[in-house]
Amino acid sequence: MDVQIDRVKASILKHKSQKKALIAILQDIQAEHNYLPPDALRAVARSLGVPLIDVIGVATFYRAFSLKPRGRHIVTVCLGTACHIRGGPKILEEFERKLAVQPGETTPDGQFTLETVACLGCCAIGPVVVVDRDYHAHTTTRKVDGILKRYRKPGRPS
Ligand code: FES
Repeated sequence: MDVQIDRVKASILKHKSQKKALIAILQDIQAEHNYLPPDALRAVARSLGVPLIDVIGVATFYRAFSLKPRGRHIVTVCLGTACHIRGGPKILEEFERKLAVQPGETTPDGQFTLETVACLGCCAIGPVVVVDRDYHAHTTTRKVDGILKRYRKPGRPS
């Protein structure tokens, strides 16, 4: 994936004077690429005049940031207690089977990354699956296919 260094620089200019400039810049980069490419991190370190190791330190501190390439869509299955007892693990298994990846992995076509979370704070609507920013409430194994179809690019094999 090509890193648009011009866009990284524009984000740096936009946030440079802010107190939490580094975090805001990393959020912009993450929003664009779904992860933090090494070239972008080097450009940020250079432009802000901070050591690369400090930029990487911030990037690894926050769970929202990823240093590994991630898919176009992030599928997060909740395995917290409330979702667990309502079938969370079975739902996760179904996503693993349909996508042929394990949690933390990305499909070879770069469409989906599968992740798990301990609790999303909305236990009443569990089991919960979040795709990007969309919450799918009361999910069942039967709904998995339909959820993936909503995000899958047309023309790709299911
Ligand atoms: S346990 Fe799933 S939202 Fe709380």
